[in-house]
Amino acid sequence: MAEAMQGANGERSHRSVMRSDSGLDLTSDFWMHRHFRAMAALYSSLLGEAGLLPGDRVLDLGCGSGTHFAWISKEIGSEGKIVGLDSDDENLETARNRISGTDYESQVELRQGGLGKLPFEDGVFDAVWCAGSLQYVPDPVGAIEEMVRVVRPGGRVAAQDVEMHSMILGPMEDELLLALKGCLPAGPDGEDFVDWFIGHKLRGYFIQAGLREVRGVMRTREYIHPLTDDERGFLDVAIPYLCTGSPGISELPDTHVQKLQSLVHSDNPSALMNRPEFIFVEGRAMAVGIR
Ligand SMILES: C[S@@+](CC[C@H](N)C(=O)[O-])C[C@H]1O[C@@H](n2cnc3c(N)ncnc32)[C@H](O)[C@@H]1O
Repeated sequence: MAEAMQGANGERSHRSVMRSDSGLDLTSDFWMHRHFRAMAALYSSLLGEAGLLPGDRVLDLGCGSGTHFAWISKEIGSEGKIVGLDSDDENLETARNRISGTDYESQVELRQGGLGKLPFEDGVFDAVWCAGSLQYVPDPVGAIEEMVRVVRPGGRVAAQDVEMHSMILGPMEDELLLALKGCLPAGPDGEDFVDWFIGHKLRGYFIQAGLREVRGVMRTREYIHPLTDDERGFLDVAIPYLCTGSPGISELPDTHVQKLQSLVHSDNPSALMNRPEFIFVEGRAMAVGIR
């Protein structure tokens, strides 16, 4: 995977290719595109739970590189409108390139801004969609309250995000897997904030933000051999990142760090992904509610 990342990004370091201009891990298009392709079926089915309707005016909050625009445009038809907002210029530029020449290009407006105070009047959207972005927000309820404010009465707010309590990675000793889980981001990380355990909390946050008829959906995605090209493209990047780049790895005992490094070392014939019983499971959760 080191080769995969360096090949795609010249001299950029292991961890930096996972970051866009924002400096946040796992926000670069290099990463998002791979993850999105591997998760396409699941992500598409989760978007289907958002109940978007033809003609809807939709705010895609934390739209990143515009991964969801094509699907949203299918749901809302040619009368609908998408406003994509993200704080990251690099991702917005990629989004601009991605929609260029598509049949929905004229329906999309891109805005630069944050998930805090939103730059919109009250009630101007029929729906808000927020995928994979609330995990970076230290005050998710405040951010959802803003989503509620910009949606019309009767409109919908939907968010999907990561849930790593469901993570399985193996074959690996249980003790090592639990230690690895303990290294995953779960709150403040220096100046940043990242919570990979936000998924199961989304429903509660939605209720606290005053949404009605809140529903929650919890899904897992399993990767086992034989892997498709899209799955391998994602896992070649994700598994070494998890085992060597997760924020708390440096605080583990040396023996754990060495085992994890060996499990993803490209020279190790029994590295995780070379094992026939290799398994990776990640979780994704979603909440949807009505204003
Ligand atoms: C993991 S990406 C998800 C992008 C896209 N929604 C998807 O599902 O592929 C997270 C995105 O959230 C954006 N983001 C993170 N914190 C943000 C904030 N406070 N305000 C606006 N965007 C933010 C990042 O710039 C990044 O583009």
